[in-house]
Amino acid sequence: MWIALPLIALSLSAHVSANICPCAREDLCEPIRHQPAFEVFVFDVGGKAWKFYDWTKVTTVAAFGQFDAELMCYAHSKGARLVLKGDVSLSDIVDPVNRTTWIQGNVQLAKSQFMDGINIDIEQAVEAESPQYYALTALVKETTVSFHKEIPGSQVSFDVAWSPKCIDKRCYDYVAIADSCDLLFVMSYDEQSQIWGDCIALANAPFNQTLTAYDQYISMKIDPKKLVMGLPWYGYDYTCLNFSKDGVCSIPKVPFRGAPCSDASGRQIPYRIMMKQINSSMSGRLWDDNQRAPYYNYKDTEGRVHQVWYDDPESIALKAAYVAQHGLKGIGMWNGNLLDYSADPIAQQQTSDMWNALTPSSHRKTAAVS
Ligand SMILES: *[C@@H]1O[C@H](CO)[C@@H](O)[C@H](O)[C@H]1NC(C)=O
Ligand SMILES: *[C@@H]1O[C@H](CO)[C@@H](O)[C@H](O)[C@H]1NC(C)=O
Ligand SMILES: *[C@@H]1O[C@H](CO)[C@@H](O)[C@H](O)[C@H]1NC(C)=O
Ligand SMILES: *[C@@H]1O[C@H](CO)[C@@H](O)[C@H](O)[C@H]1NC(C)=O
Repeated sequence: MWIALPLIALSLSAHVSANICPCAREDLCEPIRHQPAFEVFVFDVGGKAWKFYDWTKVTTVAAFGQFDAELMCYAHSKGARLVLKGDVSLSDIVDPVNRTTWIQGNVQLAKSQFMDGINIDIEQAVEAESPQYYALTALVKETTVSFHKEIPGSQVSFDVAWSPKCIDKRCYDYVAIADSCDLLFVMSYDEQSQIWGDCIALANAPFNQTLTAYDQYISMKIDPKKLVMGLPWYGYDYTCLNFSKDGVCSIPKVPFRGAPCSDASGRQIPYRIMMKQINSSMSGRLWDDNQRAPYYNYKDTEGRVHQVWYDDPESIALKAAYVAQHGLKGIGMWNGNLLDYSADPIAQQQTSDMWNALTPSSHRKTAAVS
């Protein structure tokens, strides 16, 4: 599942609402207007890791941490958008007046911070054709109209589950939502949030399952140019109940939204932490040919076996190839902060390999910006 983040209240303090440009140059406060041919969409959860991102690639940063004026100025200097996080309880916005209030509040917030749009991240369960179902589509549509009108060139994106088939009881009107916004960020991770078969540790984003779901989005007549493939820069660490001699890790049954077993029994773990641990693990890096994903096993201090499933440049490049083959709008990840940006030379190599796995050389940002 999604990492629960503390909600950071973004309040309009006096100096921000006065709309004084905090950048060294006034023009850096202008919203970005050009539309890149290819998106590299990065979630950022705060701090200063963004200083080490590969800005030859980044086109959009979704600010899920506290607003950072320095990041806004820097992103703009690189021609990249910085967008707000939008989340609201769906039962509150069934009422159209409430919906308008929410949208106007976010437009004003984005304007006051010189931001370039909004990423709507609503992961609530919704029943098909319920009042919330229609309200959600209306929310996306009305948000897009308002942002485009009030911030020319701005971008409105919406986060969808890895599959359009009511995953995690998210039965949204995906086609109408895609039509109503600039792009869908497909969260191709947490794909074991509902395990219906054997309750065992599995890949976060298995190759075939991930790409079959894109085929499903596209076969619903969603334009591939509306789809951004979202990849995980984290893995899952499972404590095995039982570790079989052929390496199968059975896990405790933790139900989620109707399924008896889920990845909620595991713990999300950043790529940078796994890379520190893997060489001293029991197994070292292993590769699963069916799921086309790396994993490893280790013993904790109490002697319990853990199995860790993750993505690395090899598994990411396999999925990224689909982006080029099917002409998707772009690629991105949850989240940019999860790599090791220290000066350690091994870490630096691993970090640049992760960034490079996202984009075949034909998709460099510089080629898209005229
Ligand atoms: C409007 O939204 C507020 C929360 O922002 C909520 O408390 C209230 O119940 C909502 N009103 C309606 C009519 O949905
Ligand atoms: C790929 O996944 C789909 C859907 O889960 C399944 O129907 C199909 O058999 C799988 N194909 C392979 C080669 O595993
Ligand atoms: C653990 O797995 C072994 C086979 O690898 C099996 O014989 C044993 O019954 C399993 N134990 C439990 C508690 O499931
Ligand atoms: C782990 O081992 C691999 C393969 O031998 C090596 O490339 C990598 O640098 C090692 N990582 C660390 C952190 O030492």
